[in-house]
Amino acid sequence: MSEYKVGYFVGSLARDSINRKLAKALVRLAPAELVFTEITFANLPLYSYDYDADFPKVAREFKDSIAAVDAVLFVTPEYNRSIPGALKNAIDWASRPYGQNSFTRKPSAIIGASPGAIGTAVGQQHLKSILGFCNSPMMNAIEAYIQFKPGLITDDGEVTVESTEGFLRNFMTEYRDFTRRVLSVYPRSPAN
Ligand code: FNR
Repeated sequence: MSEYKVGYFVGSLARDSINRKLAKALVRLAPAELVFTEITFANLPLYSYDYDADFPKVAREFKDSIAAVDAVLFVTPEYNRSIPGALKNAIDWASRPYGQNSFTRKPSAIIGASPGAIGTAVGQQHLKSILGFCNSPMMNAIEAYIQFKPGLITDDGEVTVESTEGFLRNFMTEYRDFTRRVLSVYPRSPAN
């Protein structure tokens, strides 16, 4: 079976991020064909198109890290009913310069955790709109809105509730199958 390189974004910059715990759990529970690297973005400056003529090294490396993977996975909190500003800034960098959008034809999926019952559902709708504009084929089902109660996932990414563990495992299996389907139609990017 083919292996797929997955780059995952953790939308939160917080030290004790619950979405980072969720990301660790997803990596643990994913099928063996998925090989993960985190795509970090905390060091990117605020984007302006003034940079388009000459991207700084940190931004070129960031775009290279997306080019190097077959698919992307967003694990993100909802901030004020949208996505965190740092994540939006990173996506803006990735989408430019014009004609060099890193997300074109790159399969993606979205998941997020919140202490609240809505479980990032509203923020995810914003992210779907953004990624749609960036021409990323997105996994529409299954949806995953995780309400994070204290202790649900340990710092090491161990899920303490069996039904949640099963749900997350299934999400990652669906994501592998979705990635396989998309890549059977779209060739992988030359960097791969
Ligand atoms: C939040 N939080 C939040 N939660 C939510 O469900 N919907 C929301 O719109 C918001 N808005 C929001 C804005 C800002 C600026 C902060 C700091 C927080 C609460 C949020 O879900 C909670 O802090 C989570 O712990 C954030 O995830 P990470 O950063 O721990 O992964």
